[in-house]
Amino acid sequence: MEGQVKSRDRVREHGEVFTNPREVNAMLDMVKQETERIESRFLEPACGDGNFLIEIIRRKMAVVKARYAKSPSEYERYAFLAASSIYGVELLQDNVEECRKRLFEFIKGEAEKTLKSNLEPAFLDAVAYVLERNILCGDALTLKANDGEPIIFSEWSFAMGDKVKRRDFRLDELLEGGGDKNGQMSLFGASMTPTSSWEWDEEINAYIPAPIREYPLCDWREVRAYG
Ligand SMILES: C[S@@+](CC[C@H](N)C(=O)[O-])C[C@H]1O[C@@H](n2cnc3c(N)ncnc32)[C@H](O)[C@@H]1O
Repeated sequence: MEGQVKSRDRVREHGEVFTNPREVNAMLDMVKQETERIESRFLEPACGDGNFLIEIIRRKMAVVKARYAKSPSEYERYAFLAASSIYGVELLQDNVEECRKRLFEFIKGEAEKTLKSNLEPAFLDAVAYVLERNILCGDALTLKANDGEPIIFSEWSFAMGDKVKRRDFRLDELLEGGGDKNGQMSLFGASMTPTSSWEWDEEINAYIPAPIREYPLCDWREVRAYG
């Protein structure tokens, strides 16, 4: 998005004023280390067309390139991991679509520059799919999607080699009781004040809400088969 405002009506009705790159970068620099960790998850609850998310993916993709440019399969695997770590909620459908498109085109452009003719179509399809699942149209205050149902996010985690695990969680349950002493929350992670339905997670040594659905492992290039 070039300017910070699309129309006066949208500013009045939805508070839609986009953040400029200088401010985005200054804010992200406050958590610089996390923005450069490929798997570190970010959720932006009123993401607009993605000014924060695009900068986060830019930083992560720079790390992917620095580490894996020489191995196309590793590069694609880690670029998928970076894409799958980015989450957004946005009220307006046109912004949701622009946000997904911007993220997709950026990742595609970077991968094309780095891998040239070695780029696999299955990689782009997997990236497009996780962006469809992770950038959702909904209300970040009521935590409902635009169909009135609770917002559901998928957690993507690599289990064995190229196998990925998808688990779906309700956003309202993820936000219950979360947050550390600095007010930082861990998406899909960790509260020491669980409700009765929360379960102990061996990997992160903390309680997390139970997923509402778990899926069988699948090759990351075939995640669209999850439906
Ligand atoms: C001030 S803009 C910021 C956009 C983006 N975060 C940025 O910094 O460029 C606020 C955005 O929140 C969206 N929005 C307003 N109310 C919302 C709500 N209840 N839930 C989700 N998004 C909302 C607007 O449509 C708009 O795109």
